Amino acid sequence: MFNIAVAQSGGPTAAINASLTGVFNGAEQEAQVDEIYGAENGIEGIINDRLLNLRSILMDEHDKQLLMTTPSTILGSCRFKLKDWHEDDSDYRKIAETFSRHNIRAFFYIGGNDSMDTVMKLHSYFTEKGIDIKVVGVPKTIDNDVTETDHTPGFGSAAKYVAATLQEIIRDSRVYSIPSVTIVEIMGRDAGWLAASSCVLRANGEPAPHLIYLPEGEFSPEKYLNDVKQAQLRYKAVIVAISEGVSAGNGVSSEIVDAFGHKYLSGIGKWLEEYTKDHIGCKVRSIELNVMQRCSSHIASLTDLLEAERIGREAVKSALVYGASGVMMCFHRLSNNPYRVEITTADITKIANQEKKFPREWINQEGNNVTVDALNYFLPLIQGEPKLEYRNGIPIHFRLDQ
Ligand code: F6P
Repeated sequence: MFNIAVAQSGGPTAAINASLTGVFNGAEQEAQVDEIYGAENGIEGIINDRLLNLRSILMDEHDKQLLMTTPSTILGSCRFKLKDWHEDDSDYRKIAETFSRHNIRAFFYIGGNDSMDTVMKLHSYFTEKGIDIKVVGVPKTIDNDVTETDHTPGFGSAAKYVAATLQEIIRDSRVYSIPSVTIVEIMGRDAGWLAASSCVLRANGEPAPHLIYLPEGEFSPEKYLNDVKQAQLRYKAVIVAISEGVSAGNGVSSEIVDAFGHKYLSGIGKWLEEYTKDHIGCKVRSIELNVMQRCSSHIASLTDLLEAERIGREAVKSALVYGASGVMMCFHRLSNNPYRVEITTADITKIANQEKKFPREWINQEGNNVTVDALNYFLPLIQGEPKLEYRNGIPIHFRLDQ
């Protein structure tokens, strides 16, 4: 008998707890697994030996059901970059000590491309030192920018929230007789997947957002003004979706960076609001969806949550049944209609610190919207709604502090 550990790193999503549930479920099915530990704040919790015994937290099916639909992560997260162990192995030694102290033989790290750097480095360290601990990555991020996998858990729910919220913004923007421009800034760092996913409204006959701008396309403020003016010839209330990573050469992004050197983005929408007011002069409003798009469980995608659970469960099987390590679990899409995916693994060195960009061929010729191929890719990921439990009219979240 031995124990396993799971942790989460990077920005929250609506589906991480579902993957955590999946790892837990997978481990429960393996007879050789005794304790299932969750580390607080990602790898920091392993370094500092802050482990929670998940068997004493997830007591029954109801707990697990509630956890599945609770956004963010009950374990907390981190943005922590391990040093190269050839230069400084002090944290690696602490990690190995924690694992040895608790008889942990497999570690599952739920995260995005930066977190996969941790999986890669740990696997390399353990292999080099002859330590038999399996390290497997479980993808997650609303940015959907992880290579080798068709999509990432968390993205479908964020996309569903963004589209549903945009639809409400569209309803609101049409009430007056005067012309207006509404600019909605959407997260995604340097990849435009989430902003692009706002195109799904088209499937229901909604032409807005009329303009969609992504970091993968060319953006010029002058061309943007022209696009808006053209759109105003047809629509009284013009809706613009813009990815936070679009650069207008305006210096709005912050100089503050995280541990992986990524700039904290936000502000392009506000900047465009002023720019549009100055040059077009109609009613203009900018809206930043901000963190709401990461953790909205009240309109999560059931497909996303079920896949997140499944990929967590499969990760445990890969490590404990097939002996996999130094890999990340991936979705491989078999077909769009009916939507079918299989779960595979990919070598972590192909994933860590890489970025999967939105395909340029899915951006229209004018550079201000996306094609039907994008629509077909997104639609299956937002299907279905989980059944939520409510108390006093508010969805109940699984919390450790109660
Ligand atoms: O998790 C991805 C992401 O939400 C990006 O879209 C965003 O730029 C970034 O994280 C901001 O993260 P935080 O403020 O949590 O560091």
